[in-house]
Amino acid sequence: MTAPFNIVVLAAGRGTRMVSDLPKVLHPLAGKSLLAHVLDSARQLDPLQICVVYGYGGDAVPNAIADTTIAWALQAEQLGTGHALMQALPHLADSGVTLILYGDVPLTQLETLRELSALAAQDSLALLTIELADPTGYGRIVRDTHGAVSSIVEHKDADAGLREIREINTGLMALPTHLLAGWLNRLSNDNAQREYYLTDIIGMAVADGVPVRTCSPRHEWEILGVNSKLQLAELERRYQLNTAQHLLVQGVTLYDPARIDVRGSLTCGREVVIDVNCVFEGSVVLADGVQIGANCVLRDVRVGAGTQIAAFSHIVEAELGADNHIGPFARIRPGSVLAAQVHVGNFVEVKNSQVDVGSKINHLSYVGDSTVGKRVNVGAGTITCNYDGANKHRTVIEDDVFIGSDTQLVAPVTVGKGATIGAGSTITKDAPAGELTLSRSKQLTINGWQRPVKKPKV
Ligand code: UD1
Ligand code: CA
Repeated sequence: MTAPFNIVVLAAGRGTRMVSDLPKVLHPLAGKSLLAHVLDSARQLDPLQICVVYGYGGDAVPNAIADTTIAWALQAEQLGTGHALMQALPHLADSGVTLILYGDVPLTQLETLRELSALAAQDSLALLTIELADPTGYGRIVRDTHGAVSSIVEHKDADAGLREIREINTGLMALPTHLLAGWLNRLSNDNAQREYYLTDIIGMAVADGVPVRTCSPRHEWEILGVNSKLQLAELERRYQLNTAQHLLVQGVTLYDPARIDVRGSLTCGREVVIDVNCVFEGSVVLADGVQIGANCVLRDVRVGAGTQIAAFSHIVEAELGADNHIGPFARIRPGSVLAAQVHVGNFVEVKNSQVDVGSKINHLSYVGDSTVGKRVNVGAGTITCNYDGANKHRTVIEDDVFIGSDTQLVAPVTVGKGATIGAGSTITKDAPAGELTLSRSKQLTINGWQRPVKKPKV
């Protein structure tokens, strides 16, 4: 069993190189802030207390997270990582181990954090270190002749010899909580950056005879932080590739794992096929045999088994039944619930409507605030006029209705079971069941009428 522990997330920095007014840790990666990624990992470690040290951006950071179980420690001035941890101390349970995470390092894997936490104890501390081909900018891990860690020296304070060291401090560490106050109170800012370095406590621990252990992550990307939009974009790609590989392992067919974006959770059944450039946001569930064409966007959608969504469809907060044919170029908006075997074709918009089994809306239509029964055929160019400028009204189309092309249904209106509406009608009153209803000016022919001709130019 691991010792009960605290997690402190350092997140006070401004991130000048982001060239943005948004505090760095609130920038989104895969649709979720960097800090939210770190906190999600932190929660999964089940600590006694999570404390976030915030500063730049003020209340914007706690407000964006809105989690009442988190303790927020304000670091009004960013005087260094040691100073940051000092602000968190009053919030920490005194026993066990405190794990330090960075709010701008989003992709550290749980197994790495577990290994690091387990390596520290009441009387020892643990550092996450890694060897980098280019260690420029990082604190260097200095070891004695026996290979034991003796100190960390920041890049800016290191001489040419120390800068040769390629083993670096990732910044993630696990520390015995009851020893922290004693060490932090002894920190000075007598260094190249005039900062209170958290890393200086390593030398103190060694002097106090507290063992310093190290472990390393499996992948270099686990310890990469975000300081610029370039690094943010690189980690976004890494995250998406990880997600794509996960889907492939589960048996999902991705025509190109480099061209899928999941910003939330994507749950797939068996035999699911996804073409290129699709974006999945929020919570998306695809049942067995679903096929998604290229360039589709789905947000908070459930899709029933065997349904095919053709290219360029945009579907938000909707529920699609089994064996639907959707798109290409379909737009399905919030509140739409489609039963089985529904067809929604090209340039059709469906909003806040229920469409029952076997109904077809195949071309160029708008169906909003409507209840559509079974086996209904909605002709091309049909529009539900659901909005009178002030209020929305419902259209009810009962089972087995046939609506001719280019019809306007002016809501509130009901088309009774089995009714037929003639093409080009404007329906303002309820249409009775089983009858043909149409509203259309009579066609007439002017016999012998002559089309005007252009006068010849002089
Ligand atoms: C720190 C480490 C360095 C390590 C590097 C890894 C120190 C002194 N140095 O470098 O050994 O190789 O991380 O990236 O610890 N922060 C605050 N308040 C502050 C300063 C920083 O909350 O006053 C936060 C930042 O928002 C960031 C994290 O601490 O999340 C690290 O700060 P950063 O300036 O990126 O790291 P360095 O100090 O350069
Ligand atoms: Ca820095």
